[in-house]
Amino acid sequence: MYTQAMDTLAREGGQDAGGADETAALADAARQRRFDAAIDDGGFIEAKDWMPESYRKTLVRQISQHAHSEIVGMLPEGHWIARAPTLKRKAILLAKVQDEGGHGLYLYAAAETLGTSRDQMLDALHGGKAKYSSIFNYPTLTWADMGVIGWLVDGAAIMNQVPLCRCSYAPYARAMVRICREESFHQRQGYESLLTMMREGTGAQKAMVQDAVDRWWWPSIQMFGPPDSDSPNSGTSMRWGIKRFSNDDLRQKFVDATVEQARILGVTLPDPDLRWNEARGHWDFGAIDWDEFWNVVGGHGPCNAERLQARVDAWEEGAWVREAALAHARKREAAAAALPAEPLAA
Ligand SMILES: [Fe+2]
Ligand SMILES: [Fe+2]
Repeated sequence: MYTQAMDTLAREGGQDAGGADETAALADAARQRRFDAAIDDGGFIEAKDWMPESYRKTLVRQISQHAHSEIVGMLPEGHWIARAPTLKRKAILLAKVQDEGGHGLYLYAAAETLGTSRDQMLDALHGGKAKYSSIFNYPTLTWADMGVIGWLVDGAAIMNQVPLCRCSYAPYARAMVRICREESFHQRQGYESLLTMMREGTGAQKAMVQDAVDRWWWPSIQMFGPPDSDSPNSGTSMRWGIKRFSNDDLRQKFVDATVEQARILGVTLPDPDLRWNEARGHWDFGAIDWDEFWNVVGGHGPCNAERLQARVDAWEEGAWVREAALAHARKREAAAAALPAEPLAA
């Protein structure tokens, strides 16, 4: 962890260049030991604490990708706000999409504590350099997609994100506590909406739910990322307490929880190899099409270009709002500076 004493040690060192190098190296080693000890104790790292550059870079990449996913994730559902079947469903969807925007903002703020600016992060997104969750590159074709996104996509997100509430980087962990509470509402509203269609709906509405499940199931289980055998950075992230469970463990947990929910709903999960394995105590599932996953991650999914264009357009069309807010702030500053100074208290 960061302390003033460590800085003093570094400054007091070097009388000559060689001595300074040696003292700096000793100080770095001491900082690294403190950082490692904090991580080993299950402690938290705060923004002002010393951290290795690779830890900082990993977090900036992960948190900014997470923020971008929340913001891009507003698009497929935002499309259905004006098409919601009832006022109640419209109000729920509106609140959910607004929550996702809020999640993006908490996360951009958490990433900023690591020394990256929001402009840098948005430039990377708009330039196509930064990634976001590949799930949002699929189209939302029917109203049932809103329910299935809540149930499966937010459900998978919760499974991924609950362990992040104990992530070793404290500003990220704190943001995740609030986000997870809201994600839980998202998952339930989706499931409840599907349950209503399956219990009270027409044959066509039930078929619409099944069709949505068929389209979203495989992309949802791909959300946990590549298999552990193909995820070389996972080990380091687990060592640092950023990640607590492997991709495959979380995926299995999600499948196990979802099979029973599908049964209650009365839908079939589109996997002929899905069966209970008594010996493992888990559900076995079929082979995941990783070529499709990498194709979508690589920018060639059905909606990649459309999603990115929508973000770039929103940024450009919102320029006047940012300029007006800055002009207003400058005017207030100038007015405050022109006021006579407060008289000193007697
Ligand atoms: Fe979210
Ligand atoms: Fe959500």
